Amino acid sequence: MQGSANLNLMIKAARKAGRSLVKDFREVENLQVSSKGPGDFVSRADREAERIIKEELRGARPSYGWLGEETGEDAGEDPTRRWIVDPLDGTTNFLHGLPHWAVSIALEHKGEIVSGVIFDAAKDELYWTEKGLGAFMNETRLRVSGRNRMIESIFATGVPFGGKSTLPATLQDLARLMPTCAGVRRWGAAALDLAYVAAGKYEGYWERGIKPWDVAAGILLVKEAGGFVVPVREGRDIFESGALIASNAAVHEPLCKILREAA
Ligand code: IPD
Repeated sequence: MQGSANLNLMIKAARKAGRSLVKDFREVENLQVSSKGPGDFVSRADREAERIIKEELRGARPSYGWLGEETGEDAGEDPTRRWIVDPLDGTTNFLHGLPHWAVSIALEHKGEIVSGVIFDAAKDELYWTEKGLGAFMNETRLRVSGRNRMIESIFATGVPFGGKSTLPATLQDLARLMPTCAGVRRWGAAALDLAYVAAGKYEGYWERGIKPWDVAAGILLVKEAGGFVVPVREGRDIFESGALIASNAAVHEPLCKILREAA
């Protein structure tokens, strides 16, 4: 692996948090769970994973800013750099004993994601990327799929939980898209959805109502694997609007056309 010192630091932090999560996952039925809102849960496992990541990253780079799902935003002395961290993407899967969740860490520099790590600790699959260096899973280089027929393509999304306002538009997306393609998956971990687009397993992924920590690392991974990532509404900022489309190059246009027709 020839990534930068920052990338190696991110990998170290993700692996350390992943080990802690795997331990908690083995005894998930004993975890105390609390609700942050309808359908939005947190446990000691998420908090401990974020603590570990923060200790590693901020210990090594105290001036960088921080945006974490569990501890929120914290500006650093260096306004140009910040870590964007989801210590446990796919919390609901994790709490139900489903082995589909990941640690996601991104580094942003001057508003642009420059490195990303997504660690699927239950499967020991480490996705990593750095701007200009490509996208990888462990030692294997990733490329988006070359499928170019919508009817042979599969897509993934997140279906909003807990009465999120994005539900009606997502249902319209599904009604328009499903007759045109080979299927839509809803696995419950946005970071891994993006990793699977980068790995060519699905042709695309879209979601309305995501947060920066869910997708920051995955956005760069898809781009570095040769795919496209755009906001659902043209001209909007992905983080601000919380709605994105990611896909291979071949079905990008027809996919965007369908998803941009919904409200
Ligand atoms: C959630 C997952 C899910 C997506 C939600 C996210 P969390 O993240 O990524 O797939 O549909 O929008 O909030 O809460 O498990 O970190």
